[in-house]
This record gives sequence, structure tokens and C-alpha cells, in this order.
Amino acid sequence: MKELGKFIIEGGRVLKGSIPVSGAKNAAVALIPAAIMADNDISTLDNLPDINDVKVLIDIVGQLGGKVDIAEEGAIKIDSTKLSSYQALSDSVKKMRASYYLLGAFLGKFKKAEVIYPGGCNIGVRPIDQHIKGFQALGAKVITEHGVIKVSAERLVGAQIYLDVVSVGATINIMLAACRAEGITVIENAAKEPHVVDVANFLNSMGANIKGAGTDVIKIRGVEELRGCTYSAIPDQIEAGTFMIAAAATRGDVTLLNVIPKHLESITAKLVEMGAKIEEGPDTIRVIGPERPNAIDLKTLPYPGFPTDLQQPMTAILSAAKGRSIVTESIYEGRFKHVDELKRMGANIKVEGRMAVIDGILKLSGAKVCASDLRAGAALIIAGLMADGDTEIDEIKHIDRGYERIEEKLNSLGANIKRVHTDDEEK
Ligand code: EPZ
Repeated sequence: MKELGKFIIEGGRVLKGSIPVSGAKNAAVALIPAAIMADNDISTLDNLPDINDVKVLIDIVGQLGGKVDIAEEGAIKIDSTKLSSYQALSDSVKKMRASYYLLGAFLGKFKKAEVIYPGGCNIGVRPIDQHIKGFQALGAKVITEHGVIKVSAERLVGAQIYLDVVSVGATINIMLAACRAEGITVIENAAKEPHVVDVANFLNSMGANIKGAGTDVIKIRGVEELRGCTYSAIPDQIEAGTFMIAAAATRGDVTLLNVIPKHLESITAKLVEMGAKIEEGPDTIRVIGPERPNAIDLKTLPYPGFPTDLQQPMTAILSAAKGRSIVTESIYEGRFKHVDELKRMGANIKVEGRMAVIDGILKLSGAKVCASDLRAGAALIIAGLMADGDTEIDEIKHIDRGYERIEEKLNSLGANIKRVHTDDEEK
């Protein structure tokens, strides 16, 4: 396999200054499939992050016959007038998790969909049974053949759907299909994440009729037509949280611009418990890091609980906190792969099942480590910033999937992170 670049991080620098937060990855990857549901129309999506997952999805839309123009920085125009394929079978589809949103979008638009089983970060089993249950409740037949999920329906009819687990993906996917079903669909035990609300707002701007997004009961009245519109993605809660943790980890003083502080409440609460000072403005948040963070206990939960996507960065900062922290991962069973890498840097962490017991040491020491997935990569960047000496992070392709030029943003705050390419890689 080709090596895809490394980060070399000089540890010990204090982060200071202000940086803008990009549009939300997990909103963007659902907004693009939603946009292709416009009937013979063009949508403009604004504030999209410049990350590999978005690029891959744009390529897929192109392969399907859609026309995507990069309008200006962060904005794309999606013309789905000529998009007539309901089959997403290319290798790029396999690369990302969010390609499953093409199932809901195609099913709503064409009443049939064929999509390769999705890939994404290796953080646990990640079934999609709740998506399938939702499609079936709307009247679709679902089969999986040779790694392809095939969904088809004569008609889609609104239904009452109770999700057995709170799932962001299933909530959004059912919402997409149900927009074009006959009658009313009710999703109970729905996910409440900010990007669920964002996708519902976008669909409503396209002419859908969705009520209750952001609560655990969402009601969707099917409509005959969806039209194109212009829409701006929300700021990325997880990118913002990552920078908040990085600021706290380096005794920094960092102001994040273009954020929605309400979306960051669970992170703010934990950082305050750790001794950080936080100042909120209408769309900014300032984090002043403590001399050394206090140990805390943390459990990941669906929104508005503490997000699983920030558990790994949080483990990194806690590995040098004062005392013992207990981190419980309740969403994914395999999201502690970063711990072995933190141990290379001297961390004292024991993982038992879904729990990590972290005994804070005085200082991590720089080492050669490897990013196993996107947020493990973010955790290692934070560890590298805190550590004594240099840290080399391999497999940064995972980080590029979900963070927009993270090294440039952190360097503008005073970090020293170099991206090192190797001769044989694709630049
Ligand atoms: C989304 O994944 C995000 N990905 C993930 O972000 C995030 O970790 C996750 O939501 C939770 O917030 C995208 O939005 C593309 P889920 P998703 O369905 O939708 C179980 C990142 O780092 N489940 O909410 O796939 C599942 O196994 C990524 O940016 C079922 O059992 O997550 C998990 O335990 C990683 N059956 C829990 O529910 C299903 O049909 C929540 O998963 C669906 C999910």
C-alpha cells in the first residue's frame, strides 16, 4: 500500500489566537445526497468543508450523471437535472460511511436504489439494520447481494417507525426517503444531533414538510416535489470541539469563530470541570487552558450528551491530567484503537471493554505513532502538541477525510506541524 504522508509535530508550543471553524462534515455528507433529490433543479450548498469525504461524494454525484460546479470557496452548485442513475457501485462509494445516504435519497427520488455496502472508520461493527427497518416500514423491499444493498418499492407509504437504537444515519436516511412517501411518517426515538436538524432544515427549504427535528419524534409529511435552493451548512461541532481540546491541552488561549456555542455545551461543561475558562459570544467561543487539567469522568452519549467523536481527543488530554479519569464509550465497541498509540507516548491507560481508566502522567513524550481512524488521528495531534519532543503521525489520510487543512489552522495559532510527503505517494 502507498504511504500517504505524515505529520511531524513539535511538542510544547502554546496555541494562541483565533481561527474559523469550517462547515460540518457530518452535515455536508448528508446535504449533498439530499440536494440530488431536487426534481429538475439546481441547489447551491454553502460553507461546505474542504475535506476528502466531501470530494469523494462530489465525484460520486458526477459519476451518476449529476453536474457539480465549485461556485466559490466552500460553495458548490449541484445540478441533478441529468442525474438518472440509482446505482452507486464504484470503489469510491465503499470508501466512506455516508454513502449510505444515497440509499434514502435514491429511494425517495427513483423508488429504487443500489448502493455498495458502505465503508468508513474502523471503530466497531456499525450495522445499518435500523436504516433497513425504516425503508421496509415505508414499503420497500431490501436485499443485499454480492456486497450491494438493493432497495425498491412500487410506492412509498408513510409509516410509524421506532428506532431501536438512537442512530444519526438511520434518522437522516429515513427522513430522506419519507419526504417523497405518500402520507405521514413518524420517526420515534430519533437522533437529535445538530446535523439532523440541519438536513431537515435544508429539505424543508427544498419544499419538504418535516417537523420536530432536534427532538426525539420527527414527523414527515410526504410531498410531490422537491426543488433546488441555496443553503449554508452549520459549523462543525466536532472540529470546534477538537480545537477547544487542543487549546486546553496546550495552556492556550484560542478563540473559535463561526461556531454555535449551544452545540458545544457538553464539551464546554467538561473542559470547565477540567479547569479551563470558557467565554461564549453569539458565534464565538474562547478557551483558556488550565496550567494542568483536572482528571474527570466522561461517558459518550447521543446528542445532547458528550459526542463519541470527541472521546478520542479527550482521552489524549486526560492522559496528562492530574489524577485518574474514567472514560466510557457507550456508542462504539471499537473506539479505543488510539490508546495503544498514546501508550507509545508514555500514557498510562488501561482499557477494559468499553471503559478506559487513565492515570494522568506529568508529560507525554513524542514518538512515532499511527492514526487508525479519523478521530484517533485528531487525538494523536493533540497528544503531539502536548508532548515533550517531536511526534510523527503516520496514515494521516484518515485525518484528511474529515478535517480541513488541520495543520494550517493549528500552525496559524502557533503550532509547528509539518506535512511530509513521501516520493511514491499521490500528492
Ligand atoms: C454518525 O455515524 C457519524 N458519521 C459518526 O461520525 C458519529 O460517530 C455517529 O454518527 C454518532 O454520532 C456520519 O455522520 C457520516 P449512528 P452513524 O447510526 O450515523 C448503532 C466521525 O468521526 N446502529 O448514530 O453511522 C451503531 O452501531 C464519524 O465523524 C445500529 O445498531 O452512527 C452505533 O453503535 C465516525 N444499527 C450507534 O447505533 C443501525 O442501523 C450510533 O450509530 C445504525 C446504528
